[in-house]
Amino acid sequence: MLGLERPEVDYREGVRMTPRVEAGPLAEKAPYIDHGTAIVDPRRYRDPAEAAREWEKMWTKVWTLAGFASDIPHAGDWFKYDLGPESFVVVRGEDDKIRAFYNVCPHRGNRIVRSDFGTATDCFTCAFHGWRFGHDGGLLSVKDPETFRPEVLAHATGLTEVRCDMWAGLVFVSMDPDVVDLRTFLGILPEHLDAFHFEKMRVSEDIVYTYDANWKTTYDAFMEFYHADMIHPELGEAMETYYNQYDLYPLGISRMLLPFGYAPDKTADPSVVNEALVQTLVRYEGDPEEWKHLTGEEYAEAILEAKRRLADREGWDHFKDLSDSQVVGDWNYSFFPNVTINIFGEMAYFQIFRPHATDPMKCVWRSVQLNLVGRNGFQPVLATGLGNEQDDPNGWDGTVRPPIVYAQTPEDTGFILAQDAYLVPPVQEGVNSRSFKGFILSEQEIRIRHYLAELDRYLNA
Ligand code: FES
Ligand SMILES: [Fe+2]
Repeated sequence: MLGLERPEVDYREGVRMTPRVEAGPLAEKAPYIDHGTAIVDPRRYRDPAEAAREWEKMWTKVWTLAGFASDIPHAGDWFKYDLGPESFVVVRGEDDKIRAFYNVCPHRGNRIVRSDFGTATDCFTCAFHGWRFGHDGGLLSVKDPETFRPEVLAHATGLTEVRCDMWAGLVFVSMDPDVVDLRTFLGILPEHLDAFHFEKMRVSEDIVYTYDANWKTTYDAFMEFYHADMIHPELGEAMETYYNQYDLYPLGISRMLLPFGYAPDKTADPSVVNEALVQTLVRYEGDPEEWKHLTGEEYAEAILEAKRRLADREGWDHFKDLSDSQVVGDWNYSFFPNVTINIFGEMAYFQIFRPHATDPMKCVWRSVQLNLVGRNGFQPVLATGLGNEQDDPNGWDGTVRPPIVYAQTPEDTGFILAQDAYLVPPVQEGVNSRSFKGFILSEQEIRIRHYLAELDRYLNA
C-alpha cells in the first residue's frame, strides 16, 4: 500500500474527531453520500463555455453571500457587491430593511456607486447626469425632464431590485426572482451555526486578491486539509492534519471539523508543549505556568479553559451554548456555492470565491475575518495566524471597520494564505495541460465531489 502506515479507515464511517476534545451533538458524523469514483473532468475547470454555462445556470440562480449587515448599520449606509460581470448596491432603508439593486443607472447604464462602502445621505445621485434614486431604489428625479419627449420619459424607472435576505447578520442576494427562500437554500447551516452568533461579530480584516486560477481550482484548495502537511507545515504543530472529520449535507453544503490546540501525533514529539501551543494559550490570556502538568497532546484542555474564562470575562454569554469542540476547534463549513468559514468560537474567517468578470482563468478571492468584540479590550484579531501577520492586532477594537485591502501579491494575503496563493496558479496551469486526465480524489477531498454534484444539478436543470 502507498503512504504511511495508518489504522484501517472505513471512509463510510468517516474519521471521527479526536476524543481529546469532547464533541457536541452537532459534531455527529453525517451519513455518507456516495458520489461515485469517477475522475473529475478537468475541462470544467478551464473551458470558457463551461464558465458561461455556470453563469447562466448557476450564479444567476443561487443566493450568494454579498456582505455583512454590520457594515451598513444606519439608514442610507450601503456597500457594493460585485459578482462576475455584475455589480450590486446593498443599502439599508429608513425602514431598517436591507435591499439590493443592480448597480446600474437606468438612464445610460452608469454605475451608481464605485467605492466599496458609503452613505447615501438622502438618496443616490448618478454621477453622469444626476438622476436621483431613493434608498428603496425608486426614481426621485430626472434632471431637465422637460427635455425628454414624454414617450421617452415614460421608460424612466428606478433601480432594478434583486432578492436580498439575511441570516445571522450575513446579507445574501440572488438575481433570480423565483429563487427558493434563503432559509431553505441554507439547509442545515442555521441549525449548525446559529450558536456562534456571527451577527455579534465585527469585521476586523478584509482582503481581496485576484487569483490566476478558475474559481473552482481556488475553492477546492480550501475544501480539504489533505494538503496541510505539504503546504502549511507550521499549522501541523497545533492542529490536526489527518484525524479530521469530513461531512456532507444536502444542497451542496459540507464541512470539515479540524481539531485544534494540541500537538497531533505527526509532530516530532507530541508529548512536548511546542511554541505554537504556548503562543495560542497566551493569545487567549492563559498562563502557561498553570498548565505545566499537561503534555502537548493534552494541551487543548488548557486552551479550552483559557477560552472559556476569557468568554466569561468578556461577557460572551453564548459561549455556554457552544460545545468544547466548537470553542477550541476549527469548525470549517462551506456554503454552496462559494464560501468557506473557519470558525473558532471567538472568530469566523470567511473566504468567498467569485468568478472573474471576464476571464475564467481568474477568480476574485475575498477573505473577511469577523471577531467578537471584547468588553475588556481583548482584541483577538488574527488569532489563527491565518491573516496578515504584520498587521497590528492592537489596532482593532471593533469600533472602526477596516477598509478592504486589495492585495497585489500573495504575501499581502497573510502568512498562511500566501502559501495557498502561491500554490493555486501552478495547479491551474497543470489542469490546463492537454496531458492532465482529471482529479483523482481521496475521501479527504470528498467535499469537492459534493459541491460539484450540486453544481451539476443546476447545470443540468
Ligand atoms: S447614466 Fe445615470 S443619470 Fe445618466
Ligand atoms: Fe491551504
